[in-house]
Amino acid sequence: MKEKLNQIKAEALKQINESTTLDALNDVRVNVLGKKGELTAVLKSMKDVAPEDRPKVGQMVNETRAEIEAALESAKTQMEKEIREAALKAEVIDVTLPSKKNMVGHRHPNFIVKEEVERIFIGMGYEVVEGPEIEKDYYNFEALNIPADHPAKDEQDTFYINGDILLRTQTSPCQVRVMEKGNLPIRMLSPGRVFRADEVDATHSPSFHQIEGMVVDKNITFADLKGTLQEFAKELFGEGTKVKFRPHHFPFTEPSAEMDVSCFKCGGSGCRFCKGEGWIEILGCGMVHPDVLRMSGINPDEYTGFAFGMGLERISLLKYEIDDMRLLYENDVRFLKQF
Ligand code: DAH
Repeated sequence: MKEKLNQIKAEALKQINESTTLDALNDVRVNVLGKKGELTAVLKSMKDVAPEDRPKVGQMVNETRAEIEAALESAKTQMEKEIREAALKAEVIDVTLPSKKNMVGHRHPNFIVKEEVERIFIGMGYEVVEGPEIEKDYYNFEALNIPADHPAKDEQDTFYINGDILLRTQTSPCQVRVMEKGNLPIRMLSPGRVFRADEVDATHSPSFHQIEGMVVDKNITFADLKGTLQEFAKELFGEGTKVKFRPHHFPFTEPSAEMDVSCFKCGGSGCRFCKGEGWIEILGCGMVHPDVLRMSGINPDEYTGFAFGMGLERISLLKYEIDDMRLLYENDVRFLKQF
């Protein structure tokens, strides 16, 4: 009997040693200690053992069982430890690897230019205000000296909600909204989206942006307009920038002008960029028409003012040398992340 038990034990220990997985260990346990296991079979055969020998044999069986169980347990603990260590090793983080690039958003060139223009005028004491994109005919046209039959309405055809309400064609109605409030003096800048019934091409879009500016105070003259816009042009395009005012017509200013800046590519000698002109048109401006002041409740004998308006896209295209306006609206990140 003793021999048999030793044999079972030796065989079990050998199998435990050879096991490389937890499953294999469990198989050994079942085969030796399980209900139908070899050691269990020995226990079952106890009835054949002489009664006086039973306690001794029983003790031998139990000892063998305990030894096998202990060997199984320690093999299992060891194996679990190895598995855990292997897993930890596999999970090791290599801190020297380059990190994954996070695709964060990027400011749109229009937004960059808008903020730059705002920064310049805020520096001169202007307040930034916004007006509604859905506007009354009165603010967009009528109060700006553009009555119902005025030809300017033809050039600025837009999307009408009804006869009175439309998508604004310019940011100039903000002038009226600010003047109406009657808080004088006024120094305001008003950027925003405007709309026109224009076909899409390299320089047109039915929806684009303008930046409006207005000053109303006592003794404001055309010299103030020129000085202010000259400073603005220098800040935006560089210290050496020159400006030129060409007479023009806008219904809400008198006199009116368009301002050109000397080409910041060639400095004025003429190049492909300025189409050989040396000058680039940048904005419309003028002294606020007395009737426009009067319509908004300001006495033109007491107060005068100047106003200006520029296309935001136009400046973005110039500043970043973009040759097709449509690129600004396509939101292709490969394009946008260049700025
Ligand atoms: N609103 C004009 C336009 O869309 C631009 C403009 C011209 C604005 C002269 C002004 C100004 O404030 O004084 O063409």
